[in-house]
Amino acid sequence: MRVLVVGAGGREHALAWKISRSPLVRELYAAPGNPGIAQVAELVPLGAEDVDGLARWAREKQIDLVVVGPEAPLVKGLADRIAREGIPVFGPSAGAAEVEGSKAFAKDVMRAAGIPTAEAGTFDAVDPALAWARARGGRVVVKADGLAAGKGVVVCGDVAEAEAALRAMLVEGPEASCIAFVDGERVRLLAAAQDHKRIFDGDRGPNTGGMGAFSPTPTVTPEVSAMVERDVLLPAVRELARRGRPFRGALYAGLMLTPAGPRVLEFNARLGDPETQPLLLRMESDVVPALLGAVRGDLSGVDVTFDRRAAVGVVLAADGYPAKPRTGDPIDGLDGPWPEGVQVFHAGTARAQDGRVVTSGGRVLTVCALGDALDDAARRAYDAVARIRFRGMQYRKDIGKRA
Ligand code: GLY
Repeated sequence: MRVLVVGAGGREHALAWKISRSPLVRELYAAPGNPGIAQVAELVPLGAEDVDGLARWAREKQIDLVVVGPEAPLVKGLADRIAREGIPVFGPSAGAAEVEGSKAFAKDVMRAAGIPTAEAGTFDAVDPALAWARARGGRVVVKADGLAAGKGVVVCGDVAEAEAALRAMLVEGPEASCIAFVDGERVRLLAAAQDHKRIFDGDRGPNTGGMGAFSPTPTVTPEVSAMVERDVLLPAVRELARRGRPFRGALYAGLMLTPAGPRVLEFNARLGDPETQPLLLRMESDVVPALLGAVRGDLSGVDVTFDRRAAVGVVLAADGYPAKPRTGDPIDGLDGPWPEGVQVFHAGTARAQDGRVVTSGGRVLTVCALGDALDDAARRAYDAVARIRFRGMQYRKDIGKRA
């Protein structure tokens, strides 16, 4: 098969790496890709949002499968356009991707399908939190931050309950990412993962695209997974199909875990970044039959299996990230060889004129490792991190420790 991966981030490097290991794949391309992806695929100089250019190129090259990583081209209709060329494409139509692209649409789907939801706001004072809760009729979930974690999570039914909970503690708590391959009707849940969104250790500082992720996460027990599949993913998939927008691709439910069960914070119409990096490192089964099963509308005979070991991915970010990342800094120590079960996925990297790999974006690399348990995986990932250097490199030292 000839496969094209669209995108240039760590998620797309992990996808290209995993796809390149499939015996079904003879030629692999990536547009636009990055220097890490270039180790496993031929790069195509087309932007991920160049919808017409990508469709034309895929037709001329007789591509058998296009795999779209990021949300922006999906929302712009890349999957629809590629499908019109008669080429199988992994990634939802623009109509189905609205579940991520439009908050109002996602809410409407959740309401119609009876999916338990919770909106998230993060506050460090009671008054703005209370105003936010009032605007939602008090039907919110209040989670304590790290210091008050022992007090748990309160699911509120009205403003009085919300106020009492807010006064007792202040926001944040266990979250999880549950991602499934979806064929329009059926779902194949991947192992659960958790990401770390804040820039600094201890979940402090500004939000980022994600500073690291790990899998599995002990908060998502087999019972919670079953609930997510039954109460969240399948109802969403059925509701989208009922609206004539069948979802084929990766559906990502960002969840808050409460004593009353999982509550949806958001849906994404794609794989998560950085969750995909440790997830694909753990995936034992060939990913290509699962991608094809989703595209062809039949995942029934497809198994998706995971290594029983844990995986941790640590994001190395550029100086100044997230506000104003500096670019152009040479990166040392990338060459390996790496120990078994260690993979370094590129995101914001570029090849300079002199051939060196330099930083070119906020999140530069995701350093991933497998280990017998999360702490082993984290230790092995951080051993690999210690070999990599660039000016101003920043990363969290506590990835995987929250578990
Ligand atoms: N890691 C969060 C996301 O992919 O949206």
